[in-house]
Amino acid sequence: MTPIKKNFVIDFDSTFTKVEAFDVLADISLKDHPEKETIQKQISDITNQGMDGSLSLRDSIEKRIKLLEPTKKHLAQLVTHLQNLVSDSFSRNKEFFATHSDNIFIVSNGFREFIEPVVTSFGIKRENVFANEFIFDENGKVIDFDKTNPLSANHGKSEQLKRLNLPGDVYVIGDGYTDYEIKHSGLANKFYAFTENIERESVLAKADHITPSLDEFLYLNKLNTAISYPKNRINVLLLENVHPVAIELMKAEGFTVETYPAGLDEDELCEKIKNVSVLGIRSKTQVTAKVLEHANRLMAIGAFCIGTNQIDLKAATKKGVAVFNAPFSNTRSVVELAIAEMIMLIRNIPDKSNKMHQGKWDKSAKGSFEVRGKKLGIIGYGSIGSQLSVLAENLGMKVLYYDKEEKLALGNAEKCKTLKELLHASDIITLHVDGNERNTNFIGQAEFEQMKDGVIFLNLSRGHIVDVKALRENILNGKVAGCAVDVFPYEPISNDEEFVSELRGLRNTILTPHIGGSTLEAQENIGNFVPGKMMDYINTGSTSNSVNFPNLTLPILENAHRLIHIHNNVPGILAKINHILAANGINIVGQYLKTNEHIGYVITDINKEYHKEVIKELRAIEHTIKFRVLY
Ligand code: NAI
Repeated sequence: MTPIKKNFVIDFDSTFTKVEAFDVLADISLKDHPEKETIQKQISDITNQGMDGSLSLRDSIEKRIKLLEPTKKHLAQLVTHLQNLVSDSFSRNKEFFATHSDNIFIVSNGFREFIEPVVTSFGIKRENVFANEFIFDENGKVIDFDKTNPLSANHGKSEQLKRLNLPGDVYVIGDGYTDYEIKHSGLANKFYAFTENIERESVLAKADHITPSLDEFLYLNKLNTAISYPKNRINVLLLENVHPVAIELMKAEGFTVETYPAGLDEDELCEKIKNVSVLGIRSKTQVTAKVLEHANRLMAIGAFCIGTNQIDLKAATKKGVAVFNAPFSNTRSVVELAIAEMIMLIRNIPDKSNKMHQGKWDKSAKGSFEVRGKKLGIIGYGSIGSQLSVLAENLGMKVLYYDKEEKLALGNAEKCKTLKELLHASDIITLHVDGNERNTNFIGQAEFEQMKDGVIFLNLSRGHIVDVKALRENILNGKVAGCAVDVFPYEPISNDEEFVSELRGLRNTILTPHIGGSTLEAQENIGNFVPGKMMDYINTGSTSNSVNFPNLTLPILENAHRLIHIHNNVPGILAKINHILAANGINIVGQYLKTNEHIGYVITDINKEYHKEVIKELRAIEHTIKFRVLY
């Protein structure tokens, strides 16, 4: 049986190109016109009247030509512009047009003079372009158009298709109602609403499929060659109100993005994660081993914060899921809060403020000090600790620090050899170690005992690092004169949940709901940084800054396929990959390998079409965790 022929009918304005050609033409022909804006407004009114049916297509074209007064020179400029404004997914699928040129038809209410040069450069046949035609005077000025052309009248696309009488199936791709009309008249099998450039509600409702890009159309019809997988099929789930800039970036990349303002509990996330390829969270959502068991499509997790101990990194690695975070984006915000809090606490401000609210005027200098000249003990001299060190010195403080790693002392800061040494010497102690499990109860009763009487104590790192019971005892017995805590062993999952803690109601104690890094500046920094890393990973395989994957920064791929292979770190996998490629006569143009304790990450760029069989063989290599092909 011969397969049924498939014909593809494609619209031009806002589908093949990103724009409406008449809008661009207006910019060109009215460039130096003194009343440019008024005329442009009139043109857009005419377009709208055309859309709502109060003006016929012919009248609308006529009026627009009168206002624009285009010439051949303008049209030549228009073509150059339009050639640079072809829709991205059309540009990257040039091969489709060349391969199927016999069956691709451009049917448009626009004009041949600017459509033909653009589409024929994609291999589309001149005789397959159906559009209106201008009439010029001897000076090359447009004076009219061919009114006998069916495409100059309402329902013209349907009429044109009727005349064409195409044998086989007809698939229409377009952004407008006139494209849907072809299907409505019974002349097409399917109408695909194309939404890469514009979404029109009335059109979406009529579509057999909504195709956010040509990739999706080709994928649905098993015609894709240019990319491995349409981006709109990559589902992104962003929880906990991540910054809108992140949502915009992911949408602009073509992903399908779902957002959720709060965190989700384990069961909810187990359910939700099933179809998700990219997960974005902040610090509340726990990505446990159980959640990861349900995450069969998951490629990457973005922690829109610094800490990643809310994610079971081991389980993520074993599952081949790359985790990214934003290690520096909110450093400054935490540092500023720490500075502010130590000044507030050493002046007893929380208590004084509370009393004022109760109507008590307690003016006294007793127990109030400057921070200048005081010894600040910083535990954990990483990004936050070291930046705090610089700012604190600027306030005239004497900085001591303790870190388990060898760290360069900034300014005049002094390194303490032991924690004990720091605890003994400091007037103010602030914790900035990481949230590693081994740091659980790092500061407990024994450590408080080593501190000075009347010490000011801050924890803006992670809740479990301090034994809260011991902290409470030491506030009550006066050892700790003032305390600020931003992080807690258990933190409410949403703003609706009550905050329960032994620290509530204690004197000179500032409690804040894990907002050390929560400033709009930091959120925006994070919102830009994390999606960038995840998109890099998805688009190129680069893992730079990944928390759990071997870090590889890869060159951009050109004219090759990239095979991404993640496997348990056992010897001999690279040899097996190369053996399979060689046996299939595939030439390697670039190869990169990096391993860490748990996994090996191999990128292989090949310059030949691959066969599904090769992929199957590569997938079947023992110890393979994940395998994907780019481009
Ligand atoms: P970092 O990783 O740059 O620095 C941590 C430092 O602590 C490292 O130098 C490390 O060697 C040291 N360290 C770890 N364990 C130690 C130990 N037991 N003894 C001595 N030193 C130890 O981390 P960064 O970016 O400075 O963040 C510090 C903490 O702040 C993290 O726990 C992070 O989760 C938390 N954080 C809290 C925020 C909030 O909103 N309150 C916002 C941002 C970060």
